[in-house]
Amino acid sequence: MTKPLFIALEGIDGSGKSTQAKLLYENCIATSVSTHLTCEPTYHAIGKNIRQILMGEWQADIRTVAALFVADRIDHIVHPEYGMQKYLSVGEWVISDRYYFSSYAYQGAHCDLDWVIDINKICAELLAPTCTFYIDIEPELALERIKKRKGNREIYESLENLKLVRKTYQLAIDKLKKTEHVKIINGNQSEQAIAAEIWTQLQLLMKS
Ligand code: ADP
Ligand code: TYD
Repeated sequence: MTKPLFIALEGIDGSGKSTQAKLLYENCIATSVSTHLTCEPTYHAIGKNIRQILMGEWQADIRTVAALFVADRIDHIVHPEYGMQKYLSVGEWVISDRYYFSSYAYQGAHCDLDWVIDINKICAELLAPTCTFYIDIEPELALERIKKRKGNREIYESLENLKLVRKTYQLAIDKLKKTEHVKIINGNQSEQAIAAEIWTQLQLLMKS
């Protein structure tokens, strides 16, 4: 059995990464690859606490928020029932809508980026993505899409913050280019064009 792939999707809010995570999952299933689709923050106990912070229902210091994301992530990796390692160990591919680059970009935008990378090292050691697809998009366009989407806006979804987060994504990708396999995808294309690009990149990755 070849090693199952672990793919992370990244991008600012409204970049289209949830759409792409679903399309990639459908492509995998259509080609008979057993795949588990998941996301961060999770919908388990720690992730639920984080979502309260994201909705502005609970104010927390940025270091507390960064640490909660690490706790949620470790749980998401190692939990015996829903941990990603469990799925990978039986040969399933795993697709995660957000992983540690989200912490680098969102928390690293508001506190020391190196510290955020450091506290996430345990996650990188436990489970590094085979490939991270970073969907790059202008924050103005991302915000237009967020406004059209139904539901409540979250604390990070302002134009000023999305600009800062995008800059920090770029900084983190550059900083970690020797150890992390990141593919940058132009998010200003149709959903189908982006999905096709990701699929092509994955085929190349599997051949290499
Ligand atoms: P994210 O998970 O990055 O916040 P979503 O996948 O939820 O983004 O997409 C945000 C909104 O933009 C949704 O309403 C979605 O239908 C729309 N959308 C996603 N991808 C594209 C695209 N390539 N072009 C135009 N609209 C898109
Ligand atoms: P998500 O549910 O993916 O939001 P959306 O579908 O709107 O893109 O993520 C919720 C928010 O959590 C998003 O604003 C980014 C933030 N986040 C962090 O700040 N740090 C992290 O480590 C993760 C995983 C997410």
